[in-house]
Amino acid sequence: MSEIPKLTLKKITKLNLPSILQLNVKPEQRNFVASNAKSIAEAHFNKDAWFRAIYANNKPIGFVMISDTLLKYKSNPNHRPSYYLWRFMIDAKFQGKGYGKEAMKLVINHVKNRPKAKELLLSHSKSYGNTGEFYKKCGFEYNGREIDDELLMSLKL
Ligand SMILES: CC(C)(COP(=O)(O)OP(=O)(O)OC[C@H]1O[C@@H](n2cnc3c(N)ncnc32)[C@H](O)[C@@H]1OP(=O)(O)O)[C@@H](O)C(=O)NCCC(=O)NCCS
Repeated sequence: MSEIPKLTLKKITKLNLPSILQLNVKPEQRNFVASNAKSIAEAHFNKDAWFRAIYANNKPIGFVMISDTLLKYKSNPNHRPSYYLWRFMIDAKFQGKGYGKEAMKLVINHVKNRPKAKELLLSHSKSYGNTGEFYKKCGFEYNGREIDDELLMSLKL
């Protein structure tokens, strides 16, 4: 595998939105993750959504969205926040180069720095091939629980 360029998570603005909307997974992966257009639209109606474009050097290569309940309930001092990986994709052209794993490190680091963050959760459908193997390589473990027929994975922070 060739050397991985510097990856960053950048805000999505009016200026870079068109290039983020052009990022796509492989045709056979399309039912694994929503389109970025759908995710960005949903993010604007969900106060717990935190979303960023993934860049390699100055090129957009992917998208991530998490649910960060503290964004929604920040006025409640008793709220116990939860952090959940909601969407994660690397454009088909950039897959298999180690970018996904490297980008996940940035996401984990972001969550680690959020208040009272103890774990990052995610779930994936049983029919999504071996996506779980990718998440295992990023440090997630199955916790034996299921939600809506999806397998839950957790990474302790
Ligand atoms: C899953 C995804 C994010 C992986 O991104 P990527 O950049 O191709 O992954 P990387 O190149 O960083 O791979 C990291 C490691 O995971 C492994 N891996 C990646 N995808 C895998 C898969 N589908 N099955 C098994 N292992 C996988 C790689 O072999 C690599 O292993 P290594 O560290 O031992 O070399 C990307 O394939 C993707 O966007 N898929 C479609 C969207 C999707 O499925 N999102 C998750 C919804 S639940």
